[in-house]
Amino acid sequence: MIARPIYLDGFATQPLAPEARTAMLSAWDRPGNAGSPNAAGEQAAALVATGRAAVASLIGASPGEITFTSGATEANNLALAGVLRAVHRACHSRSRVIVSAVEHKSVLETADTLRSEGIEVIRCPVDKTGRLNVAAFAELADERLLLASIMLVNNETGAIQPIAEAAALAHRVGGLFHTDAAQAIGKSQSMSSSSTSTISASLVTSATDRWGSVRSTVLQARRRPTPSCMAVAKSADYARAPNP
Ligand SMILES: Cc1ncc(COP(=O)(O)O)c(C=O)c1O
Repeated sequence: MIARPIYLDGFATQPLAPEARTAMLSAWDRPGNAGSPNAAGEQAAALVATGRAAVASLIGASPGEITFTSGATEANNLALAGVLRAVHRACHSRSRVIVSAVEHKSVLETADTLRSEGIEVIRCPVDKTGRLNVAAFAELADERLLLASIMLVNNETGAIQPIAEAAALAHRVGGLFHTDAAQAIGKSQSMSSSSTSTISASLVTSATDRWGSVRSTVLQARRRPTPSCMAVAKSADYARAPNP
């Protein structure tokens, strides 16, 4: 008898959670465009609002701060390119971006593409355990800092990064702070609402799709400071938060 294989590649994707299956099946049975002013559209809009509120409470956010994206790659792109282009245009004195050397390539490669737009991109080293070198980060985080992006949990080593310290250092010099929490949210209570809300990151990438829902990753943009990162998602108004 061939034993059933045991799935262990949880950093890549998770098996479908029964709750996610039930919710998705129920939504697929109720077609409607959430932007349409008819009964089906209103029902779809209500479903989106319920989902938005659930995700917001999971990460200690308010519903108006949530933007749904197709995956963590898009959320990271939006957090870096969307925000930086908008903020850099208005604030030329800041043009430094710090990422850790072990970020996911959706952060590293996006940051690299910004070099051609006059952004100075610095990869901060990690120590031999794969954790951010906080002393090096502190030296790099000066008044030139526009944004720092440090992941919460590394997708290859599982190292938990000292993001509370990094966020405090970035905010101390007036920079924005983004954390890619794709590997953290939902995996442990301490990785969810308490940790992401208390680090006071300006932007948080959260991957609820790791639990098997259909590609429903979110980017949380904290109200203060309020980076204008929505311009690149103009046509998807129905998927955006209602104005507060
Ligand atoms: C830390 C991290 N960020 C970003 C991504 C990209 O996620 P997605 O496949 O949802 O675009 C992954 C994928 O595993 C990841 O582990």
